[in-house]
Amino acid sequence: MLRFDDRVAIITGAGHGLGRSHALLLAERGAKVVVNDLGGALDGTGASAGPAAEVVELITKNGGQAIANADNVATPEGARAIAQAAIDAFGKIDIVVNNAGILRDRSFGKMAVEDFDGVLAVHVRGSYLVSQAAYPYMKEAGYGRIVNTSSPAGLFGNFGQANYSTAKMGLVGLTKTLGIEGARNGIKANAIAPIAWTRMTESLLPAEFEAKFTPERVSALVAYLVHESCAPSGEVFSVGGGRVARVFVAEGPGWKSDDLTPESLADNWDAVMAEQPYVLSATDSMKAML
Ligand code: NAI
Repeated sequence: MLRFDDRVAIITGAGHGLGRSHALLLAERGAKVVVNDLGGALDGTGASAGPAAEVVELITKNGGQAIANADNVATPEGARAIAQAAIDAFGKIDIVVNNAGILRDRSFGKMAVEDFDGVLAVHVRGSYLVSQAAYPYMKEAGYGRIVNTSSPAGLFGNFGQANYSTAKMGLVGLTKTLGIEGARNGIKANAIAPIAWTRMTESLLPAEFEAKFTPERVSALVAYLVHESCAPSGEVFSVGGGRVARVFVAEGPGWKSDDLTPESLADNWDAVMAEQPYVLSATDSMKAML
């Protein structure tokens, strides 16, 4: 059994849905958990200490250890306060699960700059800020596990979600760079692109999805990724309904010519679009160009 005894985990947005499920699972397996949640509405408006407190009450009732925190991940002060809460209560930070999220869907032409910035602030800036606030403690310990929460909407695009897709693909870049930078300090970072029945999706998914797409089926992957034995770093995983798959950014073999012209490109477009054999790194991409 993968256990988390003596591990300290920060889970953001853990008052509802996926974060709540991650918090319950890690606490049940011995982790000391900072249950962070701003407690606002789906669009990020409002705030309440209630949701985080309720999850902590449940964990404590089940014999686990947790503290509630209602700070905002999207501000530097909020992120620092979340990390400080972990240090004050438990003395270290081993795990950060960046899960907090909001939605402000609008078709692209109607998307207001506040809705674009607001969504990027919670998902991208929040994940950057909370990870960075925890980073010095992880570096000092030579150990850390970070999971960022991307989305199929970011990886593949989705109507009405230009802000959210931008944010969720941004998290892929953050995860890949954290995977590279964290390696020398024993810090592994991965991202998940989940599907689960939560308040965020209950009005979008068909009713029959509720029983299959449980948050618990996503938390199983998160628990593996934040465990000491986790092998991957800098990777992205699609997860939902009991299935887990690697999602990778790949570059096809391409087509090259020393006399590249718009016309020669148009004539060889099928070769440009080819997928196999692909390369998976900037270094291999550069080699293919030489
Ligand atoms: P949810 O709405 O139940 O949970 C999100 C939580 O984040 C809420 O409890 C909310 O209060 C909290 N939160 C929002 N802004 C915050 C802030 N600034 N600071 C602290 N907490 C804040 O939704 P769900 O589905 O559990 O979403 C969790 C994550 O998974 C989100 O990042 C979401 O974008 C992502 N996701 C969910 C999918 C799904 O199928 N449920 C699909 C793809 C991604």
